[in-house]
Amino acid sequence: MANALFRTKNIEQSIQDTDVSEGHGLRRELSALDLMVFGVGVVVGTGIFVLTGTAAKDYAGPAVALSFVLAGFVCGLAALCYAEFASTVPVAGSAYTFSYTTLGELPAWIIGWDLILELALGVGVVSIGWSGYLTSLLSQANIDLPQAITAAPGDGGKVNLPALLLVLGVATILVFGVKLSARFNLVMVTVKIAIVLLVIFAGLFFIKTGNYKPFVPDSQPPGAGNGGLKAPLVQTLFGFEPQIYGVMGIFSGAALVFFAYIGFDVVATAAEETRKPQRDMPIGILGSLVICTILYVAVSLVVVGMQRYDMLSPSAPLAEAFRSVGKGWIATIISIGAVAGLTTVCMILMMGQSRVFFAMSRDGLLPPLFAKVHPKYGTPHMSTMLIAVVVAAIAGFTPIHEIDVMVNIGTLFAFLVVAASVLILRRTRPELPRAFRVPLVPWLPILSMVATLWLMINLSSETWLRFVAWMLAGFFVYFFYGKQHSRLR
Ligand code: ALA
Repeated sequence: MANALFRTKNIEQSIQDTDVSEGHGLRRELSALDLMVFGVGVVVGTGIFVLTGTAAKDYAGPAVALSFVLAGFVCGLAALCYAEFASTVPVAGSAYTFSYTTLGELPAWIIGWDLILELALGVGVVSIGWSGYLTSLLSQANIDLPQAITAAPGDGGKVNLPALLLVLGVATILVFGVKLSARFNLVMVTVKIAIVLLVIFAGLFFIKTGNYKPFVPDSQPPGAGNGGLKAPLVQTLFGFEPQIYGVMGIFSGAALVFFAYIGFDVVATAAEETRKPQRDMPIGILGSLVICTILYVAVSLVVVGMQRYDMLSPSAPLAEAFRSVGKGWIATIISIGAVAGLTTVCMILMMGQSRVFFAMSRDGLLPPLFAKVHPKYGTPHMSTMLIAVVVAAIAGFTPIHEIDVMVNIGTLFAFLVVAASVLILRRTRPELPRAFRVPLVPWLPILSMVATLWLMINLSSETWLRFVAWMLAGFFVYFFYGKQHSRLR
Protein backbone atom coordinates (compact mmCIF):
# COMPACT_ATOMS: atom_id res chain seq x y z
CA MET A 1 0.00 0.00 0.00
CA ALA A 2 2.63 2.50 1.12
CA ASN A 3 4.77 1.42 -1.84
CA ALA A 4 2.02 2.32 -4.26
CA LEU A 5 1.51 5.73 -2.72
CA PHE A 6 5.18 6.58 -2.89
CA ARG A 7 6.05 4.96 -6.23
CA THR A 8 8.21 7.44 -8.13
CA LYS A 9 8.44 8.14 -11.81
CA ASN A 10 11.83 7.56 -13.30
CA ILE A 11 13.41 10.84 -14.36
CA GLU A 12 14.81 9.55 -17.65
CA GLN A 13 11.37 8.05 -18.37
CA SER A 14 9.73 11.41 -17.66
CA ILE A 15 12.03 13.17 -20.08
CA GLN A 16 11.48 10.44 -22.68
CA ASP A 17 7.70 10.60 -22.27
CA THR A 18 7.82 13.99 -23.87
CA ASP A 19 8.91 12.46 -27.19
CA VAL A 20 7.27 9.06 -27.42
CA SER A 21 3.52 9.09 -27.30
CA GLU A 22 2.05 9.93 -30.71
CA GLY A 23 -0.17 12.95 -30.54
CA HIS A 24 0.93 13.61 -26.97
CA GLY A 25 4.06 15.69 -27.63
CA LEU A 26 4.21 19.47 -27.22
CA ARG A 27 6.29 21.55 -29.64
CA ARG A 28 9.72 22.79 -28.51
CA GLU A 29 9.65 26.40 -29.62
CA LEU A 30 10.46 28.73 -26.72
CA SER A 31 13.78 30.52 -26.09
CA ALA A 32 15.17 32.06 -22.85
CA LEU A 33 13.84 35.45 -23.94
CA ASP A 34 10.38 33.99 -24.61
CA LEU A 35 10.48 32.49 -21.12
CA MET A 36 11.43 35.79 -19.54
CA VAL A 37 8.61 37.47 -21.45
CA PHE A 38 6.29 34.76 -20.14
CA GLY A 39 7.66 35.31 -16.64
CA VAL A 40 7.26 39.07 -16.55
CA GLY A 41 4.03 38.70 -18.49
CA VAL A 42 2.47 36.61 -15.76
CA VAL A 43 4.13 38.14 -12.73
CA VAL A 44 3.31 41.84 -13.12
CA GLY A 45 -0.44 42.00 -12.66
CA THR A 46 -3.21 42.28 -10.10
CA GLY A 47 -0.66 42.09 -7.30
CA ILE A 48 1.07 45.37 -8.09
CA PHE A 49 -1.85 47.06 -9.86
CA VAL A 50 -4.49 46.28 -7.23
CA LEU A 51 -3.25 44.65 -4.02
CA THR A 52 -0.56 47.29 -3.29
CA GLY A 53 -3.39 49.58 -2.18
CA THR A 54 -4.97 47.14 0.26
CA ALA A 55 -1.61 46.01 1.62
CA ALA A 56 -0.54 49.57 2.43
CA LYS A 57 -3.91 50.77 3.63
CA ASP A 58 -4.91 47.82 5.81
CA TYR A 59 -1.62 46.22 6.86
CA ALA A 60 1.76 47.82 6.33
CA GLY A 61 1.40 51.56 5.68
CA PRO A 62 4.26 53.15 3.66
CA ALA A 63 6.39 50.17 4.73
CA VAL A 64 4.55 48.14 2.08
CA ALA A 65 7.77 48.49 0.07
CA LEU A 66 9.38 46.32 2.76
CA SER A 67 6.54 43.80 2.39
CA PHE A 68 7.48 43.57 -1.28
CA VAL A 69 11.14 43.09 -0.39
CA LEU A 70 10.26 40.30 2.05
CA ALA A 71 7.92 38.52 -0.36
CA GLY A 72 10.53 38.93 -3.11
CA PHE A 73 13.17 37.39 -0.83
CA VAL A 74 11.00 34.34 -0.13
CA CYS A 75 10.33 33.96 -3.86
CA GLY A 76 14.02 34.38 -4.69
CA LEU A 77 14.93 31.43 -2.46
CA ALA A 78 12.14 29.35 -3.96
CA ALA A 79 13.15 30.44 -7.47
CA LEU A 80 16.62 28.96 -6.98
CA CYS A 81 15.03 25.63 -6.02
CA TYR A 82 12.62 25.78 -8.96
CA ALA A 83 15.48 26.59 -11.32
CA GLU A 84 17.48 23.55 -10.20
CA PHE A 85 14.48 21.29 -10.64
CA ALA A 86 13.34 22.72 -13.94
CA SER A 87 16.83 22.34 -15.37
CA THR A 88 17.11 18.74 -14.15
CA VAL A 89 13.64 17.50 -15.02
CA PRO A 90 12.61 19.56 -18.08
CA VAL A 91 9.13 18.17 -18.65
CA ALA A 92 5.67 19.72 -18.52
CA GLY A 93 4.00 20.03 -15.16
CA SER A 94 6.37 22.04 -12.96
CA ALA A 95 6.33 21.19 -9.26
CA TYR A 96 3.98 18.32 -10.01
CA THR A 97 6.48 16.49 -12.18
CA PHE A 98 9.37 17.36 -9.89
CA SER A 99 7.70 15.72 -6.94
CA TYR A 100 6.59 12.69 -8.96
CA THR A 101 10.21 11.89 -9.69
CA THR A 102 11.38 12.44 -6.14
CA LEU A 103 8.76 12.13 -3.44
CA GLY A 104 6.36 9.71 -5.10
CA GLU A 105 2.89 9.54 -6.54
CA LEU A 106 0.75 10.69 -3.64
CA PRO A 107 2.91 13.75 -2.89
CA ALA A 108 2.89 14.52 -6.63
CA TRP A 109 -0.87 14.28 -6.71
CA ILE A 110 -1.09 16.56 -3.68
CA ILE A 111 1.05 19.13 -5.48
CA GLY A 112 -0.92 18.83 -8.72
CA TRP A 113 -4.14 19.30 -6.80
CA ASP A 114 -2.61 22.20 -4.89
CA LEU A 115 -1.44 23.86 -8.12
CA ILE A 116 -5.08 24.14 -9.19
CA LEU A 117 -5.38 26.75 -6.43
CA GLU A 118 -2.47 28.73 -7.76
CA LEU A 119 -3.19 28.50 -11.45
CA ALA A 120 -6.91 28.05 -12.08
CA LEU A 121 -8.00 30.15 -9.11
CA GLY A 122 -5.25 32.65 -9.98
CA VAL A 123 -6.85 33.11 -13.41
CA GLY A 124 -10.10 33.88 -11.58
CA VAL A 125 -8.52 36.50 -9.30
CA VAL A 126 -6.75 38.26 -12.15
CA SER A 127 -9.80 38.29 -14.40
CA ILE A 128 -11.84 39.92 -11.61
CA GLY A 129 -9.10 42.57 -11.20
CA TRP A 130 -9.16 43.08 -14.97
CA SER A 131 -12.89 43.53 -14.91
CA GLY A 132 -12.53 46.23 -12.24
CA TYR A 133 -10.03 48.22 -14.33
CA LEU A 134 -12.14 47.80 -17.46
CA THR A 135 -15.23 49.05 -15.67
CA SER A 136 -13.38 52.09 -14.33
CA LEU A 137 -11.85 52.79 -17.74
CA LEU A 138 -15.27 52.67 -19.39
CA SER A 139 -16.72 54.94 -16.76
CA GLN A 140 -13.94 57.47 -17.45
CA ALA A 141 -15.27 57.42 -21.01
CA ASN A 142 -18.79 57.96 -19.63
CA ILE A 143 -19.91 54.42 -20.36
CA ASP A 144 -21.36 53.12 -17.10
CA LEU A 145 -21.99 49.39 -17.08
CA PRO A 146 -24.69 48.40 -14.53
CA GLN A 147 -23.32 46.83 -11.34
CA ALA A 148 -25.57 43.82 -11.85
CA ILE A 149 -23.32 42.64 -14.71
CA THR A 150 -19.93 43.81 -13.38
CA ALA A 151 -19.87 42.35 -9.87
CA ALA A 152 -20.33 38.93 -8.28
CA PRO A 153 -23.35 38.29 -6.03
CA GLY A 154 -21.20 38.71 -2.87
CA ASP A 155 -20.10 42.14 -4.13
CA GLY A 156 -23.54 43.57 -4.80
CA GLY A 157 -24.04 42.41 -8.39
CA LYS A 158 -25.48 39.39 -10.18
CA VAL A 159 -22.61 38.26 -12.39
CA ASN A 160 -19.18 39.61 -13.26
CA LEU A 161 -19.63 39.35 -17.00
CA PRO A 162 -16.36 40.99 -18.16
CA ALA A 163 -14.33 38.60 -15.99
CA LEU A 164 -16.29 35.62 -17.25
CA LEU A 165 -15.87 36.58 -20.91
CA LEU A 166 -12.17 37.33 -20.48
CA VAL A 167 -11.50 33.80 -19.24
CA LEU A 168 -13.28 32.24 -22.22
CA GLY A 169 -11.58 34.58 -24.71
CA VAL A 170 -8.11 33.88 -23.38
CA ALA A 171 -8.69 30.12 -23.53
CA THR A 172 -9.67 30.39 -27.18
CA ILE A 173 -6.43 32.21 -28.03
CA LEU A 174 -4.42 29.54 -26.20
CA VAL A 175 -5.99 26.75 -28.20
CA PHE A 176 -4.53 28.30 -31.35
CA GLY A 177 -0.95 27.65 -30.26
CA VAL A 178 1.96 28.65 -28.06
CA LYS A 179 3.87 30.65 -30.66
CA LEU A 180 0.95 32.91 -31.36
CA SER A 181 0.50 33.38 -27.64
CA ALA A 182 4.17 34.19 -27.10
CA ARG A 183 4.08 36.91 -29.75
CA PHE A 184 0.87 38.32 -28.37
CA ASN A 185 2.48 38.34 -24.93
CA LEU A 186 5.52 40.23 -26.13
CA VAL A 187 3.36 43.16 -27.24
CA MET A 188 1.29 43.09 -24.06
CA VAL A 189 4.31 42.79 -21.78
CA THR A 190 5.94 45.78 -23.48
CA VAL A 191 2.83 47.86 -22.85
CA LYS A 192 2.67 46.75 -19.23
CA ILE A 193 6.30 47.52 -18.45
CA ALA A 194 5.97 50.90 -20.14
CA ILE A 195 3.03 51.69 -17.84
CA VAL A 196 4.90 50.59 -14.75
CA LEU A 197 7.87 52.77 -15.73
CA LEU A 198 5.47 55.65 -16.36
CA VAL A 199 4.11 55.30 -12.83
CA ILE A 200 7.62 55.29 -11.39
CA PHE A 201 9.11 58.21 -13.33
CA ALA A 202 6.06 60.46 -13.61
CA GLY A 203 5.16 59.73 -9.98
CA LEU A 204 8.58 60.90 -8.73
CA PHE A 205 7.51 64.49 -9.42
CA PHE A 206 4.53 64.24 -7.08
CA ILE A 207 6.10 62.64 -4.02
CA LYS A 208 5.52 64.47 -0.73
CA THR A 209 8.07 63.33 1.84
CA GLY A 210 5.49 63.93 4.59
CA ASN A 211 3.56 60.92 3.28
CA TYR A 212 6.42 58.65 4.35
CA LYS A 213 5.98 59.63 8.01
CA PRO A 214 5.50 57.44 9.91
CA PHE A 215 7.11 54.90 7.57
CA VAL A 216 6.05 52.05 9.87
CA PRO A 217 2.77 53.18 11.51
CA ASP A 218 2.25 52.14 15.15
CA SER A 219 0.50 48.81 15.48
CA GLN A 220 -3.17 48.86 16.45
CA PRO A 221 -6.10 46.43 16.83
CA PRO A 222 -7.86 45.55 13.55
CA GLY A 223 -11.26 47.06 12.73
CA ALA A 224 -14.48 45.19 13.58
CA GLY A 225 -14.92 41.93 11.67
CA ASN A 226 -11.18 41.37 11.19
CA GLY A 227 -10.40 39.49 14.37
CA GLY A 228 -11.15 35.80 15.11
CA LEU A 229 -10.69 33.49 12.14
CA LYS A 230 -9.76 36.45 9.97
CA ALA A 231 -6.64 37.19 12.07
CA PRO A 232 -3.29 35.77 10.86
CA LEU A 233 -2.71 32.22 12.06
CA VAL A 234 0.61 33.23 13.64
CA GLN A 235 -1.17 35.68 15.95
CA THR A 236 -3.69 33.03 17.00
CA LEU A 237 -1.02 30.32 17.39
CA PHE A 238 1.22 32.39 19.62
CA GLY A 239 -1.61 34.11 21.44
CA PHE A 240 -0.73 37.66 20.24
CA GLU A 241 -3.44 40.28 20.31
CA PRO A 242 -4.53 40.66 16.66
CA GLN A 243 -2.81 43.74 15.23
CA ILE A 244 -2.42 45.66 12.02
CA TYR A 245 0.52 47.91 11.01
CA GLY A 246 3.77 47.80 12.95
CA VAL A 247 6.29 45.07 12.24
CA MET A 248 3.65 42.32 12.16
CA GLY A 249 1.74 44.39 9.62
CA ILE A 250 4.75 44.30 7.30
CA PHE A 251 4.61 40.49 7.47
CA SER A 252 0.86 40.26 6.86
CA GLY A 253 1.36 42.75 4.02
CA ALA A 254 4.04 40.46 2.59
CA ALA A 255 1.71 37.44 2.77
CA LEU A 256 -0.82 39.45 0.72
CA VAL A 257 1.48 41.07 -1.87
CA PHE A 258 3.10 37.70 -2.36
CA PHE A 259 0.39 37.35 -4.99
CA ALA A 260 2.29 39.91 -7.06
CA TYR A 261 5.17 37.45 -7.51
CA ILE A 262 3.14 34.42 -8.42
CA GLY A 263 3.94 33.24 -11.87
CA PHE A 264 7.73 33.03 -12.08
CA ASP A 265 7.33 29.37 -11.18
CA VAL A 266 4.85 28.99 -14.03
CA VAL A 267 7.79 29.51 -16.37
CA ALA A 268 8.93 26.10 -15.20
CA THR A 269 5.71 24.55 -16.49
CA ALA A 270 6.82 25.39 -20.03
CA ALA A 271 10.03 23.37 -19.76
CA GLU A 272 8.80 20.84 -22.26
CA GLU A 273 8.25 23.54 -24.86
CA THR A 274 11.67 25.13 -24.40
CA ARG A 275 14.43 24.66 -26.96
CA LYS A 276 17.35 24.44 -24.47
CA PRO A 277 15.70 23.93 -21.10
CA GLN A 278 18.97 23.22 -19.28
CA ARG A 279 20.32 26.67 -19.98
CA ASP A 280 17.21 28.73 -20.62
CA MET A 281 15.08 27.72 -17.64
CA PRO A 282 17.26 29.24 -14.89
CA ILE A 283 17.76 32.40 -16.97
CA GLY A 284 14.04 32.70 -17.58
CA ILE A 285 12.96 32.11 -13.97
CA LEU A 286 15.56 34.14 -12.10
CA GLY A 287 15.63 36.91 -14.70
CA SER A 288 11.93 37.59 -14.51
CA LEU A 289 11.97 37.56 -10.71
CA VAL A 290 14.78 40.09 -10.42
CA ILE A 291 13.15 42.49 -12.87
CA CYS A 292 9.83 42.32 -11.04
CA THR A 293 11.26 42.85 -7.56
CA ILE A 294 12.99 46.05 -8.64
CA LEU A 295 9.83 47.35 -10.33
CA TYR A 296 7.58 46.56 -7.34
CA VAL A 297 9.74 48.23 -4.74
CA ALA A 298 10.00 51.33 -6.93
CA VAL A 299 6.26 51.45 -7.70
CA SER A 300 5.18 50.97 -4.09
CA LEU A 301 7.61 53.64 -2.80
CA VAL A 302 6.34 56.11 -5.40
CA VAL A 303 2.66 55.43 -4.80
CA VAL A 304 2.75 55.77 -1.00
CA GLY A 305 4.84 58.91 -1.53
CA MET A 306 2.16 60.40 -3.80
CA GLN A 307 -0.85 59.69 -1.62
CA ARG A 308 -1.16 59.01 2.10
CA TYR A 309 -1.37 55.27 2.71
CA ASP A 310 -4.77 55.46 4.41
CA MET A 311 -6.23 57.29 1.40
CA LEU A 312 -5.08 54.74 -1.22
CA SER A 313 -7.76 53.15 -3.39
CA PRO A 314 -8.26 49.41 -2.77
CA SER A 315 -9.32 48.76 -6.37
CA ALA A 316 -7.12 50.98 -8.58
CA PRO A 317 -4.41 52.50 -6.35
CA LEU A 318 -1.92 53.38 -9.09
CA ALA A 319 -4.43 55.23 -11.24
CA GLU A 320 -6.13 56.89 -8.28
CA ALA A 321 -2.83 58.17 -6.88
CA PHE A 322 -2.39 60.15 -10.11
CA ARG A 323 -5.96 61.37 -10.03
CA SER A 324 -5.36 62.56 -6.46
CA VAL A 325 -2.62 64.87 -7.74
CA GLY A 326 -4.81 66.14 -10.58
CA LYS A 327 -3.32 64.04 -13.39
CA GLY A 328 -6.42 62.27 -14.65
CA TRP A 329 -4.99 61.67 -18.10
CA ILE A 330 -2.07 59.68 -16.66
CA ALA A 331 -4.63 57.69 -14.64
CA THR A 332 -6.44 56.83 -17.88
CA ILE A 333 -3.24 55.61 -19.53
CA ILE A 334 -2.51 53.47 -16.48
CA SER A 335 -5.97 51.90 -16.62
CA ILE A 336 -5.51 51.04 -20.30
CA GLY A 337 -2.15 49.46 -19.47
CA ALA A 338 -3.67 47.48 -16.61
CA VAL A 339 -6.39 46.09 -18.85
CA ALA A 340 -3.80 45.02 -21.42
CA GLY A 341 -1.36 43.71 -18.83
CA LEU A 342 -3.79 41.64 -16.81
CA THR A 343 -4.87 39.88 -20.00
CA THR A 344 -1.43 38.31 -20.41
CA VAL A 345 -1.38 37.28 -16.77
CA CYS A 346 -4.62 35.37 -17.24
CA MET A 347 -3.33 33.80 -20.36
CA ILE A 348 -0.09 32.46 -18.92
CA LEU A 349 -1.67 31.19 -15.70
CA MET A 350 -4.22 29.33 -17.74
CA MET A 351 -1.53 27.91 -19.97
CA GLY A 352 0.28 26.70 -16.85
CA GLN A 353 -2.88 25.03 -15.56
CA SER A 354 -3.62 23.23 -18.81
CA ARG A 355 -0.02 21.94 -18.92
CA VAL A 356 -0.21 20.63 -15.36
CA PHE A 357 -3.47 18.81 -16.16
CA PHE A 358 -1.84 17.55 -19.35
CA ALA A 359 1.03 16.05 -17.38
CA MET A 360 -1.25 14.55 -14.71
CA SER A 361 -3.48 13.01 -17.34
CA ARG A 362 -0.54 11.57 -19.27
CA ASP A 363 0.45 9.86 -16.01
CA GLY A 364 -3.05 8.44 -15.63
CA LEU A 365 -3.94 10.42 -12.51
CA LEU A 366 -6.61 12.34 -14.43
CA PRO A 367 -8.83 11.04 -17.27
CA PRO A 368 -7.07 10.73 -20.69
CA LEU A 369 -9.19 13.52 -22.10
CA PHE A 370 -6.89 16.10 -20.49
CA ALA A 371 -3.84 14.84 -22.40
CA LYS A 372 -5.37 15.12 -25.89
CA VAL A 373 -3.30 17.38 -28.16
CA HIS A 374 -4.91 19.25 -31.04
CA PRO A 375 -3.72 17.61 -34.30
CA LYS A 376 -3.17 20.94 -36.05
CA TYR A 377 -2.24 23.44 -33.32
CA GLY A 378 -0.27 21.10 -31.06
CA THR A 379 -1.94 22.42 -27.89
CA PRO A 380 -3.82 20.58 -25.12
CA HIS A 381 -7.13 22.01 -26.32
CA MET A 382 -9.47 19.80 -24.32
CA SER A 383 -7.94 20.59 -20.94
CA THR A 384 -7.71 24.28 -21.83
CA MET A 385 -11.41 24.56 -22.68
CA LEU A 386 -12.58 22.50 -19.71
CA ILE A 387 -10.57 24.61 -17.28
CA ALA A 388 -11.87 27.77 -18.94
CA VAL A 389 -15.51 26.84 -18.40
CA VAL A 390 -15.03 26.10 -14.70
CA VAL A 391 -12.84 29.14 -14.02
CA ALA A 392 -15.20 31.42 -15.96
CA ALA A 393 -17.99 30.33 -13.64
CA ILE A 394 -15.87 31.04 -10.55
CA ALA A 395 -14.74 34.43 -11.88
CA GLY A 396 -18.30 35.40 -12.74
CA PHE A 397 -19.81 34.57 -9.38
CA THR A 398 -17.16 34.95 -6.61
CA PRO A 399 -15.77 38.12 -4.94
CA ILE A 400 -12.01 38.64 -5.43
CA HIS A 401 -11.11 38.87 -1.71
CA GLU A 402 -12.53 35.39 -1.10
CA ILE A 403 -10.06 33.74 -3.44
CA ASP A 404 -6.80 35.73 -3.63
CA VAL A 405 -5.46 34.41 -0.31
CA MET A 406 -6.34 30.85 -1.35
CA VAL A 407 -4.08 31.32 -4.36
CA ASN A 408 -1.30 32.51 -2.06
CA ILE A 409 -1.50 29.63 0.39
CA GLY A 410 -1.65 27.09 -2.45
CA THR A 411 1.42 28.54 -4.13
CA LEU A 412 3.41 28.80 -0.90
CA PHE A 413 2.67 25.17 -0.17
CA ALA A 414 4.07 24.22 -3.57
CA PHE A 415 7.24 26.18 -2.77
CA LEU A 416 7.62 24.17 0.40
CA VAL A 417 7.42 20.87 -1.44
CA VAL A 418 9.81 21.97 -4.19
CA ALA A 419 12.48 23.03 -1.70
CA ALA A 420 12.12 19.70 0.12
CA SER A 421 12.35 17.87 -3.18
CA VAL A 422 15.63 19.55 -4.09
CA LEU A 423 17.14 18.19 -0.89
CA ILE A 424 15.74 14.71 -1.46
CA LEU A 425 16.84 14.52 -5.09
CA ARG A 426 20.39 15.58 -4.18
CA ARG A 427 20.51 12.52 -1.92
CA THR A 428 18.68 9.99 -4.05
CA ARG A 429 20.06 10.98 -7.50
CA PRO A 430 23.30 12.88 -6.86
CA GLU A 431 24.69 11.89 -10.27
CA LEU A 432 22.00 13.50 -12.42
CA PRO A 433 23.25 16.32 -14.63
CA ARG A 434 22.05 19.65 -13.25
CA ALA A 435 22.50 22.64 -15.52
CA PHE A 436 21.76 24.81 -12.54
CA ARG A 437 22.61 23.95 -8.94
CA VAL A 438 21.25 25.69 -5.84
CA PRO A 439 24.20 27.07 -3.84
CA LEU A 440 24.77 26.26 -0.14
CA VAL A 441 22.77 23.00 -0.01
CA PRO A 442 21.24 22.03 2.39
CA TRP A 443 21.10 25.47 4.06
CA LEU A 444 19.51 27.44 1.27
CA PRO A 445 16.58 25.05 0.65
CA ILE A 446 16.05 24.82 4.42
CA LEU A 447 16.01 28.60 4.71
CA SER A 448 13.56 28.67 1.79
CA MET A 449 11.24 26.28 3.63
CA VAL A 450 11.36 28.26 6.87
CA ALA A 451 10.75 31.58 5.09
CA THR A 452 7.87 30.11 3.09
CA LEU A 453 6.26 28.67 6.19
CA TRP A 454 6.57 32.02 7.90
CA LEU A 455 4.60 33.74 5.14
CA MET A 456 2.03 30.97 5.23
CA ILE A 457 1.32 31.39 8.94
CA ASN A 458 0.85 35.10 8.35
CA LEU A 459 -2.30 34.23 6.39
CA SER A 460 -5.61 34.04 8.24
CA SER A 461 -6.87 31.00 10.15
CA GLU A 462 -9.91 31.01 7.86
CA THR A 463 -7.66 30.68 4.81
CA TRP A 464 -5.91 27.75 6.47
CA LEU A 465 -9.19 25.97 7.19
CA ARG A 466 -10.32 26.32 3.56
CA PHE A 467 -6.94 25.14 2.35
CA VAL A 468 -7.10 22.01 4.51
CA ALA A 469 -10.64 21.29 3.25
CA TRP A 470 -9.49 21.60 -0.37
CA MET A 471 -6.57 19.26 0.19
CA LEU A 472 -8.81 16.67 1.87
CA ALA A 473 -11.09 16.74 -1.15
CA GLY A 474 -7.99 16.02 -3.25
CA PHE A 475 -7.27 12.89 -1.23
CA PHE A 476 -10.71 11.53 -2.05
CA VAL A 477 -10.25 12.11 -5.75
CA TYR A 478 -6.87 10.39 -5.67
CA PHE A 479 -8.04 7.31 -3.80
CA PHE A 480 -11.16 6.93 -5.96
CA TYR A 481 -9.58 7.66 -9.36
CA GLY A 482 -5.86 8.38 -9.69
CA LYS A 483 -4.56 5.51 -7.63
CA GLN A 484 -6.38 2.95 -9.80
CA HIS A 485 -5.63 4.52 -13.15
CA SER A 486 -2.02 5.55 -12.62
CA ARG A 487 0.23 4.57 -15.51
CA LEU A 488 2.89 3.54 -13.01
CA ARG A 489 0.55 0.88 -11.69
N1 ALA B 1 1.55 37.80 -10.05
C1 ALA B 1 0.35 37.86 -10.76
C2 ALA B 1 -0.41 39.09 -10.48
O1 ALA B 1 0.04 39.95 -9.76
C3 ALA B 1 -0.46 36.64 -10.56
O2 ALA B 1 -1.47 39.28 -10.99
